Amino acid sequence: MSTNILKGKRGIIFGALNEQSIAWKVAERAHEEGATFVLTNAPIAMRMGEINKLAETTGSQIIPADATSVEDLENLISQSMEILGGKIDFILHSIGMSINVRKGRHYTDQKYDFTHKGLDVSALSFHKVMQTAMKQDAMSEWGSIVALTYIAAQRTFPDYNDMADNKSYLESIARSFGYHYGIAKKVRVNTISQSPTMTTAGSGVKGFNEFINYSDQMSPLGNADAKACADYCISMFSDLTRYVTMQNLFHDGGFSNTGVTQAVIEKFSD
Ligand SMILES: NC(=O)c1ccc[n+]([C@@H]2O[C@H](COP(=O)([O-])OP(=O)(O)OC[C@H]3O[C@@H](n4cnc5c(N)ncnc54)[C@H](O)[C@@H]3O)[C@@H](O)[C@H]2O)c1
Repeated sequence: MSTNILKGKRGIIFGALNEQSIAWKVAERAHEEGATFVLTNAPIAMRMGEINKLAETTGSQIIPADATSVEDLENLISQSMEILGGKIDFILHSIGMSINVRKGRHYTDQKYDFTHKGLDVSALSFHKVMQTAMKQDAMSEWGSIVALTYIAAQRTFPDYNDMADNKSYLESIARSFGYHYGIAKKVRVNTISQSPTMTTAGSGVKGFNEFINYSDQMSPLGNADAKACADYCISMFSDLTRYVTMQNLFHDGGFSNTGVTQAVIEKFSD
């Protein structure tokens, strides 16, 4: 259902890889709500060409950018303002990747080249996006920037590996940059901490199927899916959340505040 809540708003959406991607759902919802936006992803992620389908259905243009490359980001942001016809109202950072996870390296046996790369892609890229946008004065006043994160930033989930550290850094950047962007331009910066979700990045985590069931049973409302996450992102891009900034916002069906549920306790009864 559309209420045109983003009518007239311009955005940049990072990270739509395929139909499962959270960013894909955000793009579909933002389009329904009247926004115009540019889609972007790493050049290598576009090999399969799936993003073209999304561009067609949402009437968007695609600009490839490796989010670790400041040069790519400078080009992306200046081109986006040209294509969309003005400053940017919202940015979604929906990017995450750990080579240690991909290669099955244990947390206590990381290859540090992999660690550096994962940190750059998953966390530092968020700083690079905002610094580039700020230098080009690309954001409208009261604009909204959101990155997606996971509760492993606060509590230990061993198989999340070095992504836990990357997410801690990401969330800290949201607070620190949010302060400066708030003062300079009234731009708000937040992270949304999403339930485990069946996507390409999500299913890379070891034991993900069991884990997603555990999380579902530990959440009074059940796991939030990608579509629900998209709805929450839309609300954060809208003018109805203008004074929310520098926050890590849990979108997890209550998981983060639950000690145990009856459904989980019953699994331990004799
Ligand atoms: N799936 C989950 O369980 C879950 C839970 C909480 C948070 N998140 C977060 O949500 C975000 C989106 O992930 P998703 O689950 O939709 O998976 P996804 O695999 O669909 O999206 C990850 C995206 O990151 C992009 N990417 C990787 N390297 C890049 C680079 N150098 N430059 C630009 N883009 C790059 C990929 O191409 C891909 O589009 C990530 O930050 C992820 O950590 C996911």
